[in-house]
Amino acid sequence: MVKENSKNRQDKWTIKNQVATLLSRMTLEEMIGQMTQVDQRAVEPSDVSRLSLGSVLSGGGSNPLPNTPKNWREMVLGLQEAALMTRHGIPLLYGVDAVHGHSNVVGATIFPHNIGLGATRDPDLVERVARFTAVEMSATGVYWNFAPCVAVPQDLRWGRTYEGFSENPEQVSVLGSAYVRGLQNRDHFGSPGTVLACPKHYVGDGGTRWGTTKQAEWLSNIEQAADYRYKIDQGDTQISEERLRAIHLNPYISAIKAGASSIMISFSSWNGVKLHAHKRLLTDLLKGELGFSGFLVSDWGAIDQISADYYQCVVASINAGLDMIMVPFKYQRFISTLEQAVNRGDVPIDRITDAVGRILTVKYQLGLFERRIDNEPKPEVMGSTGHRLLAREAVRKSIVLLKNDQKTIPLDRSIGNIVVAGPAADNIGLQCGGWTIEWQGGNGDITPGTTLLEAVRKTVSPGTTIYFDPHGNFPDLDRVDVGIVCIHEPPYAEGVGDRADLSLGLEEIDLIERVRPLCNRLAVIMFTGRPLIIKEQMPQAEAWIAAWLPGTEAQGITEVLFGDHTPVGKLPYTWPESMTQVPLGSFELVKKGTDNITPLFPLGFGLEAH
Ligand code: GLC
Repeated sequence: MVKENSKNRQDKWTIKNQVATLLSRMTLEEMIGQMTQVDQRAVEPSDVSRLSLGSVLSGGGSNPLPNTPKNWREMVLGLQEAALMTRHGIPLLYGVDAVHGHSNVVGATIFPHNIGLGATRDPDLVERVARFTAVEMSATGVYWNFAPCVAVPQDLRWGRTYEGFSENPEQVSVLGSAYVRGLQNRDHFGSPGTVLACPKHYVGDGGTRWGTTKQAEWLSNIEQAADYRYKIDQGDTQISEERLRAIHLNPYISAIKAGASSIMISFSSWNGVKLHAHKRLLTDLLKGELGFSGFLVSDWGAIDQISADYYQCVVASINAGLDMIMVPFKYQRFISTLEQAVNRGDVPIDRITDAVGRILTVKYQLGLFERRIDNEPKPEVMGSTGHRLLAREAVRKSIVLLKNDQKTIPLDRSIGNIVVAGPAADNIGLQCGGWTIEWQGGNGDITPGTTLLEAVRKTVSPGTTIYFDPHGNFPDLDRVDVGIVCIHEPPYAEGVGDRADLSLGLEEIDLIERVRPLCNRLAVIMFTGRPLIIKEQMPQAEAWIAAWLPGTEAQGITEVLFGDHTPVGKLPYTWPESMTQVPLGSFELVKKGTDNITPLFPLGFGLEAH
């Protein structure tokens, strides 16, 4: 809770006056401009000025080229200057998905995805991760983070499971609010190095039912935000209001208490009604009952899914309580349609002034009218040693030891020889997962970092011989003491990662079988965005480790592997024994203690090596 003190009260009074004064001077066009958010690929700075656009974003992969911190800073500053050339000089709010570090930017520190942070169960650590993320963002002039995702994933088949901290709403509330405090730096919100948080996606995005995703047939492929691969993402959450509140709403209550002043609305539906058109949940509940005084932003083109009639999309979403629309490309159409709706009386002018008042209030609270890039952290802070050390600590604390026969872990660093195998063992892209540089992530050296193999090389003694092959082929090798096999999920984001069968793929199974005969002891390390079905393969290795999607600092893994630190990670999701148990981890089931279902590992499981 941001403490009220006399300075805060004075600030609030001043801001209230400033907003009222500004609103009274703005034309309808200027107000609608503030409610419009456009992707940087679609807008010229001249339009930012001409239309008084309120916000620009970089969707996943919407990067300047070359993709450097310096170019990011110049791109954002160019658009900001255009905004300041408008009649009222209202600053632009630039938004990105810095969901595990400022992860669009080459050279940024990439932290573990939320599933790994969830395994740490450490709110102080999560707050520090968010803090450093905000510092790296501010160094590029970007002051709005579409994070934290406070989904409470209930079905591991969802491609956004790894964006969730846990299946347990209490854990999500604790870690989500810590993340908000970190981004906004508590009472220093608006100071250099702080950014606006945006808990997402309100509400129930993690509770949709498999197979309920519907594509809006009136949208062309390029306009679709849900393609044929989406089976549960953006689907329908078919539960009672009591369960919606008990499982999915609490993280927003905590995030608002932590000071969150923007919230992103979910693509999904609740019992058949699109959240983007749900006035009772957006206005009556969130703004009314919960007293949320910030502003609501739509998701990527999400209002277009409400109706085949775009006029209805605009009217329904704005009247439901949306304040800013992530268009993100056809912004002229949005602006003229909303103007038409106001002039016809289908959208009351009071709704517009309320929306713009909320947006302007947050811009003042975020210090946008005063902040100068020269006072912000310098680009050199991106990927700095201190930030990477924190990322390494987060990786270390996220590691969950699932099995450890014959006390395989910790490994002896002066071991004679060791085999390392698997495509992801020496591949930053596969180690980071989705939302890294590109929307769907990438393969290979996509950004500076330390791979698992490089971390092993830095850890073992000079006398140790390391044999590495991504495919586990070691034709001239007869026997080694220890083998490390790294299995992975290919990077994915959103519904692209919706996966009907979580069983290991043949490549992973073959890789383990190929390396097994070579080793006295074998450790399998998993770079995955969720638990996978591994029961049948478990007997093939003495040790199994869940490393999730650790980001750029794999030395956090070897610190546990070789005993510098004991593993402390605990499972943030129930680990199913088979697909018949999916969705097992639904919070209701676990809470009721369904005695007829025994998962492979329960929520909260994690061994500590001796
Ligand atoms: C995406 C995601 C959302 C993200 C937004 C902007 O579709 O649903 O999490 O913040 O678009 O990239």
